[in-house]
Formats: sequence, structure tokens, C-alpha cells
Amino acid sequence: MAEIRIENLRKQFADFVAVEDLSFTVADGEFLALLGPSGCGKTTTLRMIAGLELPTSGKIYLDGEDVTFNRASARDIAFVFQLFALYPHMNVRKNIGFPLLSQGLPKAEIKARRRDGKAPADQPYP
Ligand SMILES: Nc1ncnc2c1ncn2[C@@H]1O[C@H](COP(=O)(O)OP(=O)(O)O)[C@@H](O)[C@H]1O
Ligand SMILES: [Mg+2]
Repeated sequence: MAEIRIENLRKQFADFVAVEDLSFTVADGEFLALLGPSGCGKTTTLRMIAGLELPTSGKIYLDGEDVTFNRASARDIAFVFQLFALYPHMNVRKNIGFPLLSQGLPKAEIKARRRDGKAPADQPYP
């Protein structure tokens, strides 16, 4: 199960309110897109869910557990950054393998999980 529940979330940067009284639930298996004009608080909301930003008030529950003040590393959640998500000095293969390397996985295991190998001629690597 992977339910996300947000209750009355608010984020204020000094006297500027970026997110105000936001509540919603994303059910297990449900796909939710946040749509809105630039600056309306989408990224700030996602950063709070991932634990990269602390809310000013409100609650965040993952699978019913209150994670509002848990560190990002203590939440079982991933975040794909909009920009600058890749290490520029690494190629695609190394970027994909880096999180596994950081977890101490042996190189053979990384290779297997990354499905290294020659692509079929009709399906070249992008
Ligand atoms: N660290 C910050 N300090 C001050 N203001 C911020 C900060 N992060 C975001 N904001 C402001 O909060 C508002 C919402 O930003 P953001 O969540 O990035 O919007 P969106 O992703 O919807 O475009 C914007 O006005 C932005 O300038
Ligand atoms: Mg954004």
C-alpha cells in the first residue's frame, strides 16, 4: 500500500505564503498530477512530501504514518527532480548505477539490474 494523505498543509517563506491550506489524498495505485500556473506551489508541495522542505503547518501521512517531521531518508519515497537531476560528469549508464553503487551493491549486481548488454539491432539505445 502507498497512500499519500495531506492535511491542511501550509508553507510560508518569511511572510510569503507559497502553499495554503492544501488537503488531498492519493490512494494506493492512483496517479495524480498537480496542475497550476508557475509559482502556485506545486514543487514546494512535492518537496514537503519528499521531506526536502518542512511545512509551516499541516500534516503529511504516508500509508497512515505521520511523516511530517521525518527526514527525507526515513520516508520510503522517491523524488525525480525537474532540473539538474543528472551528474553531468557521468554518462547515462553511470548515472543509473550510482544510487546502487552508493548502497554498496557489487558491480555484477549493478550490471544485472541495469540490464547492461547489447541492445537488439532493431531497438538501439536512445
Ligand atoms: N526557498 C524559497 N524561498 C522563498 N520563496 C520560495 C522558495 N521556494 C519557492 N518559493 C516561492 O514559492 C512560490 C511557489 O514556488 P514553487 O512551489 O516552486 O511553484 P511551482 O512549482 O508551482 O512553479 C513561488 O512564488 C516561489 O518563488
Ligand atoms: Mg515547479
